[in-house]
Amino acid sequence: MKLFFFFYFFGFGVFAYFLVPQKSKAQSITNGSLIYNDFCYRCHGVNGVGRDNLIPPLKSSDYLLKNINLSIAGLKYGLKGEIIVNGKVYDGYMAYQGLDNEEIADVMNYILNQWGNNYEGFIDASQVENIPKSIFEK
Ligand code: HEC
Repeated sequence: MKLFFFFYFFGFGVFAYFLVPQKSKAQSITNGSLIYNDFCYRCHGVNGVGRDNLIPPLKSSDYLLKNINLSIAGLKYGLKGEIIVNGKVYDGYMAYQGLDNEEIADVMNYILNQWGNNYEGFIDASQVENIPKSIFEK
């Protein structure tokens, strides 16, 4: 009988695990597109091309694609001061947009896979969680 209960609950656990699957990358990108339209679009533009000398592009941005953790930190803590994007200097300010870790992960997955950008990895909330503010000092 004990064994029966063991397998009964074990089986239920396994079942529950598959019932609540981890969010897929496609789902994260879909959520991220909604966040982009709500929070980022007004500055970075419809195709992620930025604006003049004020707002850097996200499309084909070497800063974004080569500094993924720094880009996450910019969204988590805000970004201020001089940065170089595709050889061009920007010295502006992007305020923290009020997004939680999960939302930051989703919008990162979106911008990393839009407008020709392509990132094979997958960013989840725990990666965002683990990035400290001190990353800017390195
Ligand atoms: C009020 C305008 C504004 C909004 C809204 C905004 N940004 Fe920014 N963003 C900026 C500016 C300005 C910079 C450059 C900051 C600097 O010069 O240090 C920047 C820089 C960045 C960078 C790093 C540089 C690059 O181009 O690769 C990323 C990534 C980024 N933003 C993503 C986002 C995402 C995602 C959102 C929405 C959640 C967002 N931004 C919302 C203005 C904005």
